[in-house]
Amino acid sequence: MNPSNNLLLRALRREVVERPPVWLMRQAGRYLPEYRATRQQAGGFMEMIREPKYAAEVTLQPIRRFGMDAAILFSDILVPLEAMGMALKFDEHGPSLPEPVRTRDAIDALRLVDPGESMGFVGEALRLTRAGLPDETALLGFCGAPFTLAAYAVEGGGTKQFSYVRKLMYRDFESYSALMDKLAEQVAAHLRYQVACGADAIVLFDTWAGTLTRLDYLRYAAPWTRRVLRDVAGVAPRIVFAGDSGHFLEDLFEFGAEAVALDHRTALGPAFERARGRCALQGNFDPAALFATPEEVLRRTRALLDEVGGRPGHVLNLGHGVFKDTDPECVGAFVQAAKERAS
Ligand code: CP3
Repeated sequence: MNPSNNLLLRALRREVVERPPVWLMRQAGRYLPEYRATRQQAGGFMEMIREPKYAAEVTLQPIRRFGMDAAILFSDILVPLEAMGMALKFDEHGPSLPEPVRTRDAIDALRLVDPGESMGFVGEALRLTRAGLPDETALLGFCGAPFTLAAYAVEGGGTKQFSYVRKLMYRDFESYSALMDKLAEQVAAHLRYQVACGADAIVLFDTWAGTLTRLDYLRYAAPWTRRVLRDVAGVAPRIVFAGDSGHFLEDLFEFGAEAVALDHRTALGPAFERARGRCALQGNFDPAALFATPEEVLRRTRALLDEVGGRPGHVLNLGHGVFKDTDPECVGAFVQAAKERAS
């Protein structure tokens, strides 16, 4: 791939492009019959992640079918936590970490690991994916941001209240900081490793950021997100996704990332005004609107692109991942809306 004429990388540099690049969070997934077939062949979700030939295969599947402008490596944000020593399970209810870290001893016992040694399957999957990707398609690596990873590590899985991680941050800031320091270091190493193995750009997922007030975000999450972003500055373009972050967007725009990814709760047109050219914006079609008919998806995606109005620095994406019972035709319509803009 040639970075000087790649559509996604040019949009991340906020160059004027002939049409917006498009990819979707969770574009490889259970809504695709070919994904379900590979998952069955592999024996499960973690088995696909750990076996590079399967991980590369499912990464390539949506590209073959829809021709998105970027492929995101098939893996999960929780994989580095497992490498650091935490037990990790996935079942139909989502991920769980049966031995959460809630004490200083447990935090100190987490290992910092060399990604090439402990997660070599990630690097190998990136190399295999690159070999199978069209030249013009960018390859994305990713990691969870420290706060989102800490939330999973301390809660032991998904949660609505975040009671354990909140107690740790408010009542034992020293232990909380020790955990966040470790995670930030591991995340930065993981991102650098993925770039060394062929990722053209990276995405930092701070899915749970928006559960914090602005002041708590600035105190308890942002310093470590910024540290990671600084650590990988100049290594590859950085896209930072923060869920439900309308209440601290201006702060995110100051982080120096090449792009900020918005979810569907923040209006995109006004967000461009708020960004004032400081970074590109990615997003932000409501993934639940993919449950409409393909014609309606096309109409709504065109409307979203009209709202952007051809401003430089837009990457078309969803506001969150594709849901599993999405009609693949609707994903096709979404991609088509970007492609038909070609001048
Ligand atoms: O296509 C892609 O986006 C690349 C692969 C990818 C997955 N997870 C695959 C996956 C990426 C980038 C992620 C990131 C991830 N994982 C995040 C951050 C982004 C976001 O969604 O907010 C988070 C919070 C996780 C943790 C996680 N993994 C959850 C909460 C779940 C369960 C929800 C669900 O959809 O089942 C997973 C499982 C998961 N990760 C699946 C996929 C395709 C479904 C697994 C399956 O096949 O059963």
